[in-house]
Amino acid sequence: MSENYQPIGVFDSGYGGLTIFKELLKELPQYDYIYLGDNARNPYGTRSFEVVYEYTWQAVQHLFEQGCQLVVIACNTASAKALRNIQQLDLPVTYPDRRVLGVIRPSIEMIPEMTKTGHVGVLGTIGTVLSGSYPLEIAKISPDSPITVVQEACPMWVPIVENNLINSLGAASFVEENLASLFAKDPLIDTVILGCTHYPLLSEIIYRFLPPGVTLLNQGPVVAEKLKDYLSRHHEMDARCSKSGRRDYFTTESSKNFDLLANLFVGSEVKSQHVKLG
Ligand code: DGL
Repeated sequence: MSENYQPIGVFDSGYGGLTIFKELLKELPQYDYIYLGDNARNPYGTRSFEVVYEYTWQAVQHLFEQGCQLVVIACNTASAKALRNIQQLDLPVTYPDRRVLGVIRPSIEMIPEMTKTGHVGVLGTIGTVLSGSYPLEIAKISPDSPITVVQEACPMWVPIVENNLINSLGAASFVEENLASLFAKDPLIDTVILGCTHYPLLSEIIYRFLPPGVTLLNQGPVVAEKLKDYLSRHHEMDARCSKSGRRDYFTTESSKNFDLLANLFVGSEVKSQHVKLG
């Protein structure tokens, strides 16, 4: 890698992070980027805390070795299970001048303004739901007017996306069932957070089964805006991120398979390289 090549790293367990990546490219096109998908070890949502942490830290280190000064973990499961350890234990010891950001905190900052009923639904992987990260973070930002947060784990949605079954009857049936279950738990929900970066790829079906008047929070544009704000406040980090509009893609699976789907999701030509982590 060239000496001046210091891209922003974007990591996900698979294709889902591309929904964030796409928005970063729109909002901050001048930067160099590396996208890394751990497709071979996906899904993370059903894995233990220890395993998600181990895999995520391996991926972050790989991105650092490529020159990234700043890494966005574009995965809710990894943000919920690994981010805190990486920020508090690993970075200070091994890479004190690098930064790793997640997607959960930036996603919830506008929730208190969005909900009128004070009832919010979260759709996520089993790992994200069990971590309790969303209810905890939402409680922290709105201590005076508590918001009721109801969660629904959707374990089939990530495999549907990873296997490109988005337009299948099965996909529609799982989406319908999970949404019905969420609203049965709390019919007052007026705002739903897509708490998994794979889920926007199912947006069309989700909208079909979403009760009228309910707002969907899609993380991509929110995370992109927050990153822009972060870089405008951290000039030193901004100066260390190179800006020649270069994009590189890595996957732990076959690059041929990755390119096929990634092309579709990003909407432009993707040529990835295979990488082995760990
Ligand atoms: N995109 C990941 C997330 O946001 C999917 C997790 C998985 O691999 O199960 O949680």
